[in-house]
Amino acid sequence: MHSPEQQKKYYERTKEILASGPRQTEDFVKELRQLIVYHEWKYYVQHDPVISDFEYDQLYKMLVDLEVEYPEWITPDSPTQRVSKDLTESFPSVTHLVPMLSLDNSYNHDHLNDFDNQIRKLTGIKEGEKIAYTVEPKFDGGSVALIYENDKFTRAATRGDGVKGEEITKNMRALRSVPLKVGFSRLGITTAEVRGEALIRKDRFKKINEERQEEGLSLFANPRNAATGALRMKDPRETASRGLELFLFQLGYGHDGKDNDKLREIGTHYEAIRTLQQLGFRVPFKEMVRCEGIEEVIEVVKEWEEKRDDYDYEIDGMVVKVDRFDLQEMCGSTSHHPRWAVAFKFKPKQATSKLLRVDYQVGKIGSITPVAKIEPVHLAGVTVSSVSLHNEDFITGKDIRLGDTVLVERAGDVIPYIVKPMSDLRDGSEKKIEFPEFCPVNDTDEKVRLVRAEGEAAWRCPHCVCGVQDLQKMIFHVSKDAMDIDGLGKSQIEKFHALGWVRNIADIYDLDYDKIEALEGFGKKSVENLKSSIEKAKKNPIKRLLHSLSIHHLGKKASSLLAAEIDNVFDLCDWDLDRFIEIKELGPVVAKNVMDYFSNEDNIKMLRRMESLGVNMKATSEDRPKQRNTEGVLSGKTILFTGTLSAMTRNEAKDLAENAGGKLLSAVSGNLDILVVGEKAGSKLKKARELGTVDIWTEEEFLEKIGESK
Ligand code: IVH
Repeated sequence: MHSPEQQKKYYERTKEILASGPRQTEDFVKELRQLIVYHEWKYYVQHDPVISDFEYDQLYKMLVDLEVEYPEWITPDSPTQRVSKDLTESFPSVTHLVPMLSLDNSYNHDHLNDFDNQIRKLTGIKEGEKIAYTVEPKFDGGSVALIYENDKFTRAATRGDGVKGEEITKNMRALRSVPLKVGFSRLGITTAEVRGEALIRKDRFKKINEERQEEGLSLFANPRNAATGALRMKDPRETASRGLELFLFQLGYGHDGKDNDKLREIGTHYEAIRTLQQLGFRVPFKEMVRCEGIEEVIEVVKEWEEKRDDYDYEIDGMVVKVDRFDLQEMCGSTSHHPRWAVAFKFKPKQATSKLLRVDYQVGKIGSITPVAKIEPVHLAGVTVSSVSLHNEDFITGKDIRLGDTVLVERAGDVIPYIVKPMSDLRDGSEKKIEFPEFCPVNDTDEKVRLVRAEGEAAWRCPHCVCGVQDLQKMIFHVSKDAMDIDGLGKSQIEKFHALGWVRNIADIYDLDYDKIEALEGFGKKSVENLKSSIEKAKKNPIKRLLHSLSIHHLGKKASSLLAAEIDNVFDLCDWDLDRFIEIKELGPVVAKNVMDYFSNEDNIKMLRRMESLGVNMKATSEDRPKQRNTEGVLSGKTILFTGTLSAMTRNEAKDLAENAGGKLLSAVSGNLDILVVGEKAGSKLKKARELGTVDIWTEEEFLEKIGESK
């Protein structure tokens, strides 16, 4: 899209502007916009930013300030106008310019040979003459068509039934991988329709589900569901914050014959994808392979089948397309799919099994999770016999019954889930799953009726009489995410609990180490280690402690926010609701839960006991939000540590760097100013040397410089 010279110019102008500040002219605003669009393309499309996030934010803020002052200079394609704050009430149905067809599927390599023979018949190409094909990932997300008229992005729609889809323009505008202005006119094209798949990266998907779990929301079964859901959000800001990305796989049709001629001039699919990349779109060009002949296609498909789990996005196969447009035209289409393309589907990660029974688990705040016990099946390398059914709505929504044959799927590193019951296979013996009315794990005589709060997916046991919730709370308390007590995990806590040694989390700090040493499986050394990790945990910052208490909806982020506002955990006993709500990012529900927790005498007694056992209740420097030092020796500099450090730990080094005003980076790039190398530094050092723009310091040099700043 941009020549190296042009990119260099953009980069230099950016640095000049950052140094000199804004000018109050319309031309300057135009230039600023152009620079921001360029940096967004580097970041969101190329994944190769040339400026830091901080510098980008400064540019963006400059533009926002100027547009506030001079609203008459705002244009609809300004980067600030991407996200509309209006909520979409419904998504109107729109007709695609040309129907969005599906793909024919093939499941084995012989089918690909048949496909090649079929293409020969349709085009008259003789055996012996190789046909060029492209092979690219078959993305598993939601398909979308975008329309550009006179270079401007004007409409986006979901695939829908292929003829008509839902209009989702506002949501697509919110994605920074969707350019708002594209130079189609340079190719002589006035109306262009481009098509692609909206996706969420696997790691991003995992995070989304972790956050949803913390917030008590229902989980997405797979990245596809999270992506298609995000396409249809009422609030475009939410679409953007889900981290959707759009990969284009087709440069589509011009509105009239003239434009189609222009498209034909591009000649091949491979070139069309390259063109889309040059125009500024995200495309799978790196992944795409151009093959001479079907034998090469089969090799490429085999390679991808091996590496699909390592790929950042969920894919369910590879798409093979005849490369030349003139040959594509000779092949034509059926009403269902083009004859010039075929999807090679990977071995399904789905299997059927029988639902034997449903067990129920109780979580740390009493949420009841139904778990399906199924006849063991082999699924993509693992044996699955238990599958979460999430909550009651999941069961009723899919009409899952006891004795049903169910379709189970396991995608990537996602936990297995039930896609659907095979209702055609029912013989009438299947039974409705009756969700329990009373706590299903309680083994005392006192029955506890389950409750379900408005807006929540889970049924909960409101007051635990059997101790199971306290056990779950202890297991969470010691976990990595909470107090991170090494050597103390689920099995040890369960053992101590069964022996009656621990009833609630305070008991963890009052263990009798002699008794533990006498247990089977524990030795002197392991008890010493356990003791020292418990002593270490006592000193944890209070944000960890707050999170470890299992207060409903109080996740890591909210715990940090709270910790930053108090000197001592017990300060929260005096807070009223208004004081909680003063913290902007804290929702009213979590505020009320924390307030309730600190108004409960038993909880306070337990915390006081923990305090007397030495558990830290006072805010530490880690609880305070970091103020960037703008006058330190490293201010304005980016820094990265690599190799084994000997004079300090990695965390101490990072703290020192930040205290001196430095900004930490996680990888070597053009943005990096300083690389501090310890022993056995590897590829990062090599890359920094190659770049030639990075200052390389030893540990001693780093400490010396920091010393000077004191
Ligand atoms: S080409 C007319 N290429 O698969 C043929 N489709 O099963 C247009 N898909 O609706 C499709 N990755 O959403 C094509 N690299 C790729 C694809 C791809 C995913 C989806 C697409 C389509 C569905 C058909």
